[in-house]
Amino acid sequence: MGSITVGIAGITGKFARCVVGHLLKQPNITIKGYCRDSKKLPPGLLASERITITQGQSDDNGALRTFARGSDVVVCCYLGDHKLMVDGQKALIDACEAEAVPRYVASDYSLDFTKLEFGQLPAKDPMKHIQAYLKTKKVQGVHVLIGIFMETFFSSLLGVWNADQASFSYWGSGEEMWESTTYDNAAQFVAAVTQDPTAVGVQRFLGDRKNIRQIAAAFEEEYKVKPWLNYLGSLEELKTHMEKVKNLDPSKFMAWIPLFYQYYCNNGQTYLTPDVDSTQYPEIPRLTFNQFFRRVPQESLTNAAWSVGSNVPH
Ligand SMILES: NC(=O)c1ccc[n+]([C@@H]2O[C@H](COP(=O)([O-])OP(=O)(O)OC[C@H]3O[C@@H](n4cnc5c(N)ncnc54)[C@H](OP(=O)(O)O)[C@@H]3O)[C@@H](O)[C@H]2O)c1
Repeated sequence: MGSITVGIAGITGKFARCVVGHLLKQPNITIKGYCRDSKKLPPGLLASERITITQGQSDDNGALRTFARGSDVVVCCYLGDHKLMVDGQKALIDACEAEAVPRYVASDYSLDFTKLEFGQLPAKDPMKHIQAYLKTKKVQGVHVLIGIFMETFFSSLLGVWNADQASFSYWGSGEEMWESTTYDNAAQFVAAVTQDPTAVGVQRFLGDRKNIRQIAAAFEEEYKVKPWLNYLGSLEELKTHMEKVKNLDPSKFMAWIPLFYQYYCNNGQTYLTPDVDSTQYPEIPRLTFNQFFRRVPQESLTNAAWSVGSNVPH
């Protein structure tokens, strides 16, 4: 394969660093990075001859064009407010269009947002806007869907895993599936997508699919500790509860959004299955919950998300 230039916007972020790690394993790839503060990057990565950094804000059209110029594909790894995810990505897509970049990988890496209505899971509305925007452009949109990151599943933000009590809280029958992939495994998939010009449109990749009882059983197998299962109510009760919490004070985003995630991850509407193609890129392993547990000490599960991307090779 000839040489490829991959642009990465939001290169200081956790997922971006995982993608960079996998891209650097391929000798034919050079990287152009975009960020608002290059001092946040590890010195080794900054010094790499294979990485060129452009610094600028998300609305700096000149800097965005300099960044996009000459890229075979641009991967967006932004994570921020609605303005960044919609206006910031549109500015980036416009820069890609102006510089004739063939493909743009949107900053999705999520459950299947294409099956949501606007407003159902508000944090995913920007993805729907960007998917529609890309359809009006020459640059071809790519949307990578991976379920929930395993590290995010265990973070205290979601409210499922409680390390102090060694318990999983859940709504529903306990049979509802969690579709999940580690950050690094998803980044491996994105790195493969960047090298495959035929990968356009929605691309689904899944590490594992287990219900809460199966996750608890895998946990016990690997850590030799039996976690508690804490039943909170039916899925219908979760829906009533989450809407009540949101209506009480919509500005308290972090009070209600985790409940919305729990509901839409589990109610079946956003599953990647059965549309996921488990034979795509067979060289990439699909990391299961068991394998994740073998890599992360039990006491590090809650904070696993925060150390993602800290060991990027360069
Ligand atoms: N499926 C899941 O469970 C899940 C969970 C988490 C994230 N994700 C997805 O993964 C992707 C990346 O997430 P992450 O965890 O890697 O996020 P992250 O570590 O917080 O990185 C976010 C990136 O966005 C940049 N950014 C934030 N605000 C900005 C602004 N106003 N202007 C310009 N750049 C800005 C940050 O730059 P600075 O370093 O300058 O702040 C950083 O490079 C997103 O698409 C997100 O939706 C999925």
